[in-house]
Amino acid sequence: MKALIAAGGHATRLRPITWTRNKHLIPLANKPMLWYVLKKITDAGIMDIIINVNPGEVKYMSENLGDGSEFGAKITYLEQRGGAKGLAHVVANAEEHLKGERFLFFLGDNIILGSINQFVDRFQNEGLDCMIALSHVKDPQRFGVAEFHPDGKLKSTIEKPENPPSPFAVTGIYLFDEKFFDAYKTIQPSSRGEYEITDVITWYINNGTVGHEEITGWWKDTGTPDALIEGNALIMDDTPREEYCVDCQPHEDAQIQGPVAIGEGTVITADCMIRGPVVIGKNCKITSSYIGPYTAIGDGVVIHETEVEHSIIFEGASIDTTRRIVNSLIGVNAQLVDYKRTHPKTGHRLIVGDNSFVEL
Ligand code: G1P
Repeated sequence: MKALIAAGGHATRLRPITWTRNKHLIPLANKPMLWYVLKKITDAGIMDIIINVNPGEVKYMSENLGDGSEFGAKITYLEQRGGAKGLAHVVANAEEHLKGERFLFFLGDNIILGSINQFVDRFQNEGLDCMIALSHVKDPQRFGVAEFHPDGKLKSTIEKPENPPSPFAVTGIYLFDEKFFDAYKTIQPSSRGEYEITDVITWYINNGTVGHEEITGWWKDTGTPDALIEGNALIMDDTPREEYCVDCQPHEDAQIQGPVAIGEGTVITADCMIRGPVVIGKNCKITSSYIGPYTAIGDGVVIHETEVEHSIIFEGASIDTTRRIVNSLIGVNAQLVDYKRTHPKTGHRLIVGDNSFVEL
């Protein structure tokens, strides 16, 4: 089997971070979001992987993610042609690679805990034409939603319905057989001008056998800062304790508790407390600070006299505030300083990029 990953789009809800970075490369526990998707796919035994990227991003994405050899897989980067016209159009764009194949389609911003093997196995062992993974959600109107007949059989899937017929979101993990491209030819763009993947699934329900299974573990599409920070935390919880390694020598009086990973060349002074789960990159300098649970700190970050918790700090950021920073995303090379250290002693000096969010 092959797999196609959707990794394009502009992720406007994650600006300003996504002004300079494709959302799918945002680090969660210090690894790009797509790393976890590649891991799930290769753990399911699928090694021939196509990643659909925005026009002009092939070099950038491949430089960041590699050729798949890290996973024993082969990655082909494919540029989206013909504009952003919906997820079914993303699959159609990859027809030259997927024609005649049974394949997995995975939205690169979908993070799940646990394996996808049970979906792939059912699809293959039962010879299904299509298989979808559902998740019970509180806000189904934000998603594609499954509609059921009274006997529990799937009736259709509907994109972002105002009045959801069930609480089951169609997650971004789909399996299709070779008839996908026949189905695609029958669908029309929706009112938002997109070729909806839910319309293709409804075609399959009417013309073939569609399996569905609920994801009972955690699943999220990481479209908002809060969802990213939650994803970061849950990935840390899901990481086996033996994978947390300290590759530097923190000061012997520094208090390091719980699962903590620290990269080479990082300095942690005596008056620090690091309470895991925490992941800290290489060549950071942490002085007189508290780093609390569910914090991921990228390479080359400097933190002085600050408490940080439940946050993602990107590489090269510098934080020196005497405050407590929580639930935050701090971008590459961003600087947070203590307003009391400059004149005048009152007032806050801000250089804040477009679409930033600041809570003072
Ligand atoms: C897309 C799909 C939707 C699905 C969701 C899962 O929505 O169109 O059917 O439920 O992904 O993440 P989008 O994230 O583009 O709003």
